[in-house]
Amino acid sequence: LQEYKLSNYIFWLNMKHLVIGNWKMNGTLAHASEFAQHLNEKLWQEEMLTQIILSPPTTLINYLKQNLDSKIKLAAQDTAVNKEATGAYTGDISAAMIKDIGCDYVIVGHSERRQYHHETNQIVRQKAEAVYAANMMAIICVGESMAEKESGSTCKVIESQIKESLPVSATPENTIIAYEPIWAIGTGLVATKDEIGMVHNFLNNMLNKERVSFAKRYKLVYGGSIKSSNVAEILAASYVDGLLVGGASLLWKEFWQIIKVVSEHQKIMSLECS
Ligand code: 13P
Repeated sequence: LQEYKLSNYIFWLNMKHLVIGNWKMNGTLAHASEFAQHLNEKLWQEEMLTQIILSPPTTLINYLKQNLDSKIKLAAQDTAVNKEATGAYTGDISAAMIKDIGCDYVIVGHSERRQYHHETNQIVRQKAEAVYAANMMAIICVGESMAEKESGSTCKVIESQIKESLPVSATPENTIIAYEPIWAIGTGLVATKDEIGMVHNFLNNMLNKERVSFAKRYKLVYGGSIKSSNVAEILAASYVDGLLVGGASLLWKEFWQIIKVVSEHQKIMSLECS
């Protein structure tokens, strides 16, 4: 029985859903200060069953590391492509420097970087390798455009993004996969439960088929126009292990509400399985 309880406990620890907030190019010190104060108070009042990860702009990482409850982990939104910790690369910030200021995660291959900075799958892969070299986890983003969705090539696009963006050294221990359909980002057009389920199922078959232990699967998170009012529907899709929230993560009340819905969902799931 003891053994059963322990494995159950490890199972649930590993199964913690993720709520990742991506602030993109938003946020001042004043904003970060108010956000940290409110979120800390909420966390001290209530135990949450989720792993919260915040990805502020680089300028605020150090401040938030000092001022946010340490239960919240930090992610950078990008890293230099080089594996070196230092060097003559004006304007770049290495993965080792990001780790040094307290991050455990780095988002790589966000569609906004792929689009505005012409980051190819190969660059995304090199960046993920730089993240591993600095002992952090990579949150690798994939997703199709509206034109690709309409032409029925969603899975084909996702498949080549995964094949080409994931380093050979990628494992569930160093990588989280974020599915963010480009047409759902910042548009208010959230993907339906069936659309999310279809892609997450596809990703799960591609990445986790051989993994017999549930606790050792790649975590698959969804992102795109998430609000507290649509979280329950998104979580009802298959193989959704968490959320990557953009705009709504800037507003502490809304972000907290999202965390609460995810935590409640997790509680119900754990009761059903116990
Ligand atoms: P929105 O939630 O603002 O649509 O952004 C999603 C996103 O790009 C998170 O990385």
